[in-house]
Amino acid sequence: MQSKSGQWNNNLAFLLAATGSAVGLGNIWGFPYKAGENGGGLFVLLYIFFVIVLGLPVFMAEVFIGKVGKGNPVGAVEALAKKTKSSRNWNLVAYSGILASLIIAGYYAVIAGLVINYGFIAAAGFVGTDPGVVYAQEISSFWEMTFWFSIFLIGSGIVVGFGIEKGIESAMRILLPLLFVLVILMVGYGAVRGDMPAALDYLFSWKADQFNPGTVQAAVGQAFFSLSIGMGTLMAFGSYMPKSQQVSKSSVIVVTADTGVALFAGLAIFPLVFFFALDPTAGTELVFKTMTTAFAEMGLFGQFIGPLFYFLLAVAAFSSMISILEPSVVFVSEKFNFSRFKSSMCIVVICFFLSLISVAGFNVLKDASIGALDNPFEAMKYLADDFLLLLVGTGISLFVGHRLQNVITAEATGISNTFLLKLWVIVLKYISPISLMIIWVLGNAQVLFGVNLLDYILI
Ligand code: PFF
Repeated sequence: MQSKSGQWNNNLAFLLAATGSAVGLGNIWGFPYKAGENGGGLFVLLYIFFVIVLGLPVFMAEVFIGKVGKGNPVGAVEALAKKTKSSRNWNLVAYSGILASLIIAGYYAVIAGLVINYGFIAAAGFVGTDPGVVYAQEISSFWEMTFWFSIFLIGSGIVVGFGIEKGIESAMRILLPLLFVLVILMVGYGAVRGDMPAALDYLFSWKADQFNPGTVQAAVGQAFFSLSIGMGTLMAFGSYMPKSQQVSKSSVIVVTADTGVALFAGLAIFPLVFFFALDPTAGTELVFKTMTTAFAEMGLFGQFIGPLFYFLLAVAAFSSMISILEPSVVFVSEKFNFSRFKSSMCIVVICFFLSLISVAGFNVLKDASIGALDNPFEAMKYLADDFLLLLVGTGISLFVGHRLQNVITAEATGISNTFLLKLWVIVLKYISPISLMIIWVLGNAQVLFGVNLLDYILI
């Protein structure tokens, strides 16, 4: 991904690559369905709150580790631990991030494969079809889903293997704006044809009765996932940053763009959900069913815009997927002295097996619950997004806040205002780790064991 010197040639490259990483299935597929499952407004407002209070500071911390530590995520943490005379065991943070990235790659490829498959179906047109039946049919075949995710996974692996220094920049320059425009067009369509007032009410009204630790954990997990925090991706991208580029400013730009796309995706989808009386709590299938219903409604125009939508979604997924693979690929290549290509193929093989487990969650093992989690797909998603990401986020905060004091300077971070710099460090030292750990404990107790610890604490 980086140029020969291990650095991007200009400031725009980081912005494009990091935005390409952040904006993906998490925004257009994940955010709307998680908002739907978790009571709409409460989730959305918590999400925005956590993006600002925890997401942005931890995002900056992760980029910062990469920028000053250099190299692969494990190497960067180890180098900084050595420099600051800290324990080498801090590398556990990076290892856990890499583990999370592999699990995510495993299930991400499956959804991306479904998106590509839908692109072809959309080209044939949805008129006269029942979206529910189409969806049920498409996910019922283990081998068909395996075919589609394999294409996506191998394609991403090849690009990462060859290095994508020029490719990603030029592709993102065109495709990102196109994606933004298309999402806005969809919002426009929702406003004209759908039930926008119902959507706004659903997405932005505070529903106190739905407040529980599971919803809070889902909002933080989604915020971290959507911002690509906690998997080493931002460390890897930070390590290619030119010295003169400001961590703070670049982070604010990427975080704003990512949150904007997620909110717009919600505003594109929910007006249609309510207009067509679909179920907002449908879960992972929500986007597939609503969008196909809308494309069928649009007639000939839908046959044009449908494939375009899935194409752009696949592109957004692709730029995210290569960024998910990047940290483990550089790690393996540096640790074992493999060529980039060989290391990329090793990672693809690991992800392939993980994807097989996750595909099975849609069909052959769809009722094989694992504890409280419905099936292997849901279990992998929970383990990575809600369980591991919060732990890694805590580790990153503690490491930067407590161990890197001597490395943190206005110049290295780009924060010239002393108050803001101190505030950032305080958030990383105390606020972020303490709140993440409370949310993690309460959320896991609720989701995995069905125990709402707040009931005991608040009595
Ligand atoms: N942020 C991406 C999305 O919202 O789809 C997913 C992602 C990319 C997660 C890169 C993690 C990552 F390292």
